[in-house]
Amino acid sequence: MAKLRTGRQKYYNIFAHFYDLFIKMHSHNYGEETRKFLVDSAQLEKKRHPRVLDICSGTGSVVLAFSRSLPDSTAVGYDFALGMLYKAKEKDLAGKTQFINGDAARLPFADDCFDVVCCSHALYELKNQVRTEALLEMRRVVKPDGRVLIMEHEVPKKRLIKMLFYVRMLSMGPADSREFVKQGTAPFEKIFTHVSLSHTPSGKSKLISCRKQ
Ligand SMILES: C[S@@+](CC[C@H](N)C(=O)[O-])C[C@H]1O[C@@H](n2cnc3c(N)ncnc32)[C@H](O)[C@@H]1O
Repeated sequence: MAKLRTGRQKYYNIFAHFYDLFIKMHSHNYGEETRKFLVDSAQLEKKRHPRVLDICSGTGSVVLAFSRSLPDSTAVGYDFALGMLYKAKEKDLAGKTQFINGDAARLPFADDCFDVVCCSHALYELKNQVRTEALLEMRRVVKPDGRVLIMEHEVPKKRLIKMLFYVRMLSMGPADSREFVKQGTAPFEKIFTHVSLSHTPSGKSKLISCRKQ
């Protein structure tokens, strides 16, 4: 398992060099929409000094969107690929976002310490056991009245696009990633007490909002 994750880390370290360009070409202008939807869904604008953790933060687009919209927040990006974190740091012109290197299955944070824990378009790429461990860790570190927000791709409706979507999933994700994206909220209901589902305005991504109490 450790060896496998090291292999994945190497893959993401290389991918980090062209990740933003890849996303720009592939998601057109939906990235902006997705980030705004995620930040708005966190409902933190009235909270004083909110604490936000972004798991599998990649090149930082989501955590930096939180930092920018909530100037008095503490925002932390967490990823196991150093290459991704270096790119994210370069983009953090205000220098106020924290970036921490580590595995999603083991979070180096105390219990109940974040108002929002999010994970954007990454859970489906984790192997089943790691994904479950990561979700349990997210539940542990979020405050009792906080939210865990999981953004995932929605399965495309058009046949050809759906086929390409699954081909990409097979090449990038573990064997069960296809099952995972099709399951909707079921995997989350096993771990959290309250789970709700919504979609971005374009319908390209879905947001699973989870509470532990
Ligand atoms: C598809 S990218 C998503 C990046 C970002 N959340 C976004 O929306 O642009 C997946 C990210 O998950 C990270 N990742 C994959 N497995 C991980 C693990 N076990 N622990 C921590 N990070 C992981 C990768 O390094 C990569 O940056």
